Amino acid sequence: MTKLQKELPKVGRWAEEKYKLLKCYIDIFSTGMKNKWPQRVYIDLFAGAGSAIIRDSNTIVDTSSVIALNVKNPFNKYIFCEKDNKNYTLLKKRVKRDFSQSNFKIINGDCNEVIDEIIGEIPSDSNVLTFCFVDPFGLHIKFDTIRKLSQGRRIDFLILLALSMDAVRNKKLYIREDNDTLDNFLGGKSWRAKKAAIKNMNRNDFRRFLINEYSNNMYQIGYKKPSFGNTKEIKASDNLPLYHLAFYSKSDRGYDFWREAKKYSTNQLSIEFPNGL
Ligand SMILES: C[S@@+](CC[C@H](N)C(=O)[O-])C[C@H]1O[C@@H](n2cnc3c(N)ncnc32)[C@H](O)[C@@H]1O
Repeated sequence: MTKLQKELPKVGRWAEEKYKLLKCYIDIFSTGMKNKWPQRVYIDLFAGAGSAIIRDSNTIVDTSSVIALNVKNPFNKYIFCEKDNKNYTLLKKRVKRDFSQSNFKIINGDCNEVIDEIIGEIPSDSNVLTFCFVDPFGLHIKFDTIRKLSQGRRIDFLILLALSMDAVRNKKLYIREDNDTLDNFLGGKSWRAKKAAIKNMNRNDFRRFLINEYSNNMYQIGYKKPSFGNTKEIKASDNLPLYHLAFYSKSDRGYDFWREAKKYSTNQLSIEFPNGL
């Protein structure tokens, strides 16, 4: 194994499905919007190192930030946030080496803490359309961070909801009064009113409950409410559920793009853009 392979983050095979879906969505979004929005911005709150190595193999794959930089119709600006020093350094090296022509800013920090700096990097004109990818390992994204980002701007989100990997696994701990993980993730304590029912929920019902709560909260801040089926569930090779990818937009068009992306990535077809996109 080379030095680079040793340094890169390891991901499971299932991550390839996430990358494929992200690529499909970004391709459709950037092609569909390039003539409608003069400025398109990509934000990656959990940016990673730019590439990763598939566990149990020597295959190196591009990850979210590099997938977005490589898109056919590039964004006008890229804002990356990465907390881990090693991943941050790897990403900076890769972007400077391969994408020096792109307009980018890479911030080293916890996205929940440096959100004002991230917002400060978004051009303030009214003709900016932003797409934000949120890809944590667990329930590490605070709803307040999403709320702040969404205030007064057109920004669509693709959010990895780590329901099976984290929420379901740690349900007993997270519903305790002295644990604020779900309060932060859902942006308040109102979910606690249903605590008695939550205790008796099976895994599926608990997942569904969290998606509904999350989508209700997005609705409260101006997003259209997607149905449970509008999220994409990613499973491990043994068919065990891992997480959901949930898309949120303030416009119907955004959901059209998301539906197309899910269709094309699932069918593993090369992308042919439907009429009008
Ligand atoms: C699941 S990985 C995803 C990486 C990348 N998006 C990809 O496509 O593979 C999550 C990344 O977020 C970083 N991270 C964890 N907590 C963070 C936080 N609070 N703010 C910013 N980055 C964080 C981790 O170091 C890791 O590189």
